[in-house]
Amino acid sequence: MKHQSSDLEQLIRDLPKAELHVHIEGTLEPELLCEMARRNHLTLRFATVGELRQAYRFHNLQSFLDIYYEGTRALLSEQDFFDLTWAYLERAAQQHVRHAEIFFDPQAHTGRGIPFETVIRGIHRALEEAIPRLSISSNLIMCFLRHLSAEAAMRTLEASLPFKDWIAAVGLDSSELGHPPEKFVTVFQRARAAGYLTVAHAGEEGPLDYIRQALDLLKVSRIDHGVRCLEDPELVQRLASERIPLTVCPLSNVKLCVFKSLEDHNLKKLLDLGLCVTVNSDDPAYFGGYITENLLASQKALGLTRHDLYMLAKNAFEASFLGAGEKQRFIAELDRFMQAHLG
Ligand code: HPA
Ligand code: ZN
Repeated sequence: MKHQSSDLEQLIRDLPKAELHVHIEGTLEPELLCEMARRNHLTLRFATVGELRQAYRFHNLQSFLDIYYEGTRALLSEQDFFDLTWAYLERAAQQHVRHAEIFFDPQAHTGRGIPFETVIRGIHRALEEAIPRLSISSNLIMCFLRHLSAEAAMRTLEASLPFKDWIAAVGLDSSELGHPPEKFVTVFQRARAAGYLTVAHAGEEGPLDYIRQALDLLKVSRIDHGVRCLEDPELVQRLASERIPLTVCPLSNVKLCVFKSLEDHNLKKLLDLGLCVTVNSDDPAYFGGYITENLLASQKALGLTRHDLYMLAKNAFEASFLGAGEKQRFIAELDRFMQAHLG
């Protein structure tokens, strides 16, 4: 059956969604950033919301990270971390996100003298309130900044242990090139022994081998980005047969020049190869869109079909860290939704 693009647009908007790759610090919208700077008596390099948005032009990952870390400096109190997280969750709820797995970067804050506890208590409180008030469940993923040392990551892991029950997994983010997964083997070993699941950003800007290292050395359950996997058919075969999910972030990839345009993105190829691909927003305040905007733009640029959109939504629930029963419940909700929207 042929579908009007407006039908697919409505389908995308209403689809029950899971988001698996979003950095909470990357959801800090310029308006909230300015408000926090004001109430915390900080002077920003950019005086207005407009100037901030103007600065959001990037030519690679590092040029983005410089601005992203600058933005985190506005976050000081537990309430700031609560407000940041709550603002994301409200947006996500409006976009029918039913489950979110959210990264946070404790070292971006502890490095500025903010206690680990302040950060996680603010975030956790918002996540807890979102269950009854917004009908969103969530998991928290603590990322290590890979441009810092393995020793610093290990200290962060130790600091997290009193809050272990609030954290589902550890991950690896920040500047990829020159910071291979193998640098963090011991930290990840320790994290797994403490009961954390593991994920890692790999194959965003960095080489293919970082994807293999993340799987073999860090024993990750998912690869964040992983879009460079197509350079090796054997690796693609492995990702398919082991059903290793890829958390792909289309608008991010274009903003950071991983692909020249959305039309050039390999999302559709990855889907057609049967990989467990998901669509996510990464740092929505900086990259021009949340999960719905990522899906809408990808559908338009790549001609995603109704079936593609269903698979993306289903893959996300399947790839989540929810229990088997909860996954089934969400997928049944998705199936009922698709039935009701035969358009
Ligand atoms: N890539 C790597 N590290 C990050 C990103 C990203 O897109 N966002 C925040 N930290
Ligand atoms: Zn990311």
